[in-house]
Amino acid sequence: MRHFVIVGVLVIAASFLAYTGLAAAHLMPVEASSQSLEIDWMWNLQLIGMSFLFSLIAVPILYSLIVFKLKKGDTTDAKHIEGNTPLEITWTVIPLFVVVIFAYLGAGNLARTVRSSPDAMVVKVTATQWSWKFSYPDYGVISTELYLPKGKPILFKMESTDVIHSFWVPEFRVKQDLVPGRVTELRITPILDGNYKVRCSELCGTGHYRMEQPVIVVDKAAFSAWVTDQQAKAAALVTPEAKGEALVAENGCAACHSINGAAGVGPTWFGVAGSQVALEGGTTVTADDAYLTESIKNPKAKVVKGFAPVMPQYSFTDEEIANLVAYIKTLK
Ligand code: CUA
Repeated sequence: MRHFVIVGVLVIAASFLAYTGLAAAHLMPVEASSQSLEIDWMWNLQLIGMSFLFSLIAVPILYSLIVFKLKKGDTTDAKHIEGNTPLEITWTVIPLFVVVIFAYLGAGNLARTVRSSPDAMVVKVTATQWSWKFSYPDYGVISTELYLPKGKPILFKMESTDVIHSFWVPEFRVKQDLVPGRVTELRITPILDGNYKVRCSELCGTGHYRMEQPVIVVDKAAFSAWVTDQQAKAAALVTPEAKGEALVAENGCAACHSINGAAGVGPTWFGVAGSQVALEGGTTVTADDAYLTESIKNPKAKVVKGFAPVMPQYSFTDEEIANLVAYIKTLK
């Protein structure tokens, strides 16, 4: 009996130490959304459970190793035990209850995490190999940076133009896949202003690792100022070249095409207009308007020598393509 009391006390002490240590390690980033509070509450509960279970196993093993060590010269047989029905029922029923309680708490937690709010602001998220685009239908703003007003529930409506991507801002905790051909939803309410990053957490090709863009949470006044500023910038775009340049920024073309001659996943745009382009298969083509237009509309029609046919199929209008071509022609 004395051994049980000692082990019991040691288990409690070890659980406390294990939990304190894990909590002090700050395993999670800051809590920047109301959803993160829910998730972390559940996570904390699991840390307590894990610390206790770890101690419940490790302490008796270590205690037995030390206290019941075989004495030198002792060749007697150990005591034979044939099983203990009440003990087996106990260690089956208690964990069963614990698992059911965790399932109940987890279900409630999940329900609060995905709960909809009637006054949510919609932000459309479009993922493409390998960039994010954010559009704000209420304001007619399109951006490569995700600006969010603090305290406002946000409903992300997310689409992919090519393969499966996954929207993940660690500080918001929740995460959602973007699947081609359907619109997936994710709800977050930012509660802490700051600069974060959205990352893609689904392996989506060679550029997956650099599919990350800024997320900026600001107060409501600063958000309104940003919207006004973005709207003014969009209204100031009058020439086709300027509109083309804005499209390039919105669609993350720079992830693959440089504008200064530097190497990339795709051919550089610097000096391409009017030049002779060597193609796979040994032929050469003059990069006139028709070639540039075709290369945007149907990227796999003519593949430039030395590059893989990996450019995604974008759905630009003819006018947008003309603007893009006009912009590319300025790069020389
Ligand atoms: Cu998109 Cu990984």
